[in-house]
Amino acid sequence: MTASEIAGSIFKYASIPIAIGVGLYAILLGLLTTSTFQSHVVYLHAIQMTWFKDLNVPETFGFLKNQVTPFSIKTADGQELYAWHILPVELYRKHQMSLIEEPVGFVTDIKSRLGFQLLREDPDARLILHMHGAGGTVASGYRVPNYRALSAGHPGKIHVLTFDYRGFGKSTGSPSETGLVIDALAVVDWAMNVAGIPASQILIFGQSMGTAVSIAVSKHLAIQDPPIVFAGTVLVAPFVDVATLVSTYRIAGTVPILSPLARFPLLFRYLQRFIRDKWLSKDSIAQYIRATEFNGEKYRVAIIHAQDDFDIPWHHSELVFWHAVNASMASGISYDELEQKKLDSKADLGAGGSVMEWKTDNGVIREEILKTGLHDVIMGYPIVTMAVMRFFEAADPSFAI
Ligand SMILES: *[C@@H]1O[C@H](CO)[C@@H](O)[C@H](O)[C@H]1NC(C)=O
Repeated sequence: MTASEIAGSIFKYASIPIAIGVGLYAILLGLLTTSTFQSHVVYLHAIQMTWFKDLNVPETFGFLKNQVTPFSIKTADGQELYAWHILPVELYRKHQMSLIEEPVGFVTDIKSRLGFQLLREDPDARLILHMHGAGGTVASGYRVPNYRALSAGHPGKIHVLTFDYRGFGKSTGSPSETGLVIDALAVVDWAMNVAGIPASQILIFGQSMGTAVSIAVSKHLAIQDPPIVFAGTVLVAPFVDVATLVSTYRIAGTVPILSPLARFPLLFRYLQRFIRDKWLSKDSIAQYIRATEFNGEKYRVAIIHAQDDFDIPWHHSELVFWHAVNASMASGISYDELEQKKLDSKADLGAGGSVMEWKTDNGVIREEILKTGLHDVIMGYPIVTMAVMRFFEAADPSFAI
C-alpha cells in the first residue's frame, strides 16, 4: 500500500474528526520532543496568572503595607531572580508604624529596609525558603495562603523568602533543570550569607515542581564538603521523576498528555528518551538521605500529599517515601515490606488521613497523607504549619513558644 492508500483507508474507516484529532496529537508529540516546547509544558512559566496585577504592589494580593519587600537576587550565572521577603504578621504588628513610613515598591538595596534588618538582627529568626510549583508567580493561586500557613506557628519569628525561578514572572532567563538548581543555590547563598541565617534555622519548603528543586538543592548541599543540612525539608505533592509524572499527569486534573501512550510501553520508552529535564527526585532524595546518614548529620523530611490530588497522584509520595526510607538503611527495604510496616505502625487519623513516621539515629522521614486537600489548596492547611513547627522545634527545642 502507498501512503495515500493508507490515508485513504484511514479516512474510509474512521471519521474525519478522529483523523484530525490523531493528526493533532501526533503534532503535539512531535513538538514535545523539542526542548523549548517541552520546557513550556514542564514549567508552564508562560502562564503567569497574575497578568493584570503588579507584583511590586503586594498589597493587591492581600498583604499589609510593606509587609512584603520585593527585590532581586543575582545568580552565579548572571540571572536576576525576582523575590519577596515576607514578614510574619506579629513581627509586622510590633513595627507597623515604622514599616508603613518606608517607601513602597521594588527595592534595589534590601539591606536598607527595616524588614530585612528585623530578619538579620534577630538571632532567633527562622527563614523558610519557598520553592513554588510550575506556572504562575510568587503571588499566584494558593501560594499566598501558603505563606501564611508557613509562619502561622510562630508569627513573630518565621520569615518567608519566595522567588520566581528564571523565566518565570519578572525573573530573567528561561527555565531548565540545571538553571533552577543554580537559582535555588543563589537563594540559599542569600539566606546564609546576606541575611546571615544559619542552616539550622532555615527550612526548605517545596510544592509540586518545587519539590524537585527542593530535593535537588538539599542533595547538592548535603553531598558537598563541608555539607550543609537545613532544619528540615517539607515537600507537598512531590513526584518520582518527570518520566513517571508524564505517564500520569493530567493538565488541570483532566487533560492527559502522555498517559494515553503509557499503554504502549515501547513507544512510551522511546519518547521518554527525549525528556530533557528529568528531575530524578526519587534518586536525589535517596542520595540526600545516604549522604546525611553517612555524615551523621541530623535530617528531617516531611512528604505531604492529598489523596484527591488529581494533578499528581498521591502514589508518587508513597514511592518517594519508600526511596527515602530505603536509603536510610544499609540493607534497604522492599516496597512491600515497607507497606507491611505501615499497616502495623502508621497512625490512622480517620478523615484526617494517616501519618507514617520513619526514624533513624540521625533522621526522621514522615509520610503524611490527607484524604482531601487537592493539589494546591492543601498548601494553606494547618498540616503545613505543623510540619514547619515540628522540624524547627526538633532542630532547636527552645524554639517552641
Ligand atoms: C534500596 O537500598 C539498597 C541498599 O542500599 C540498594 O541496593 C537498592 O538499590 C535500593 N533500592 C532502590 C529501589 O533504590
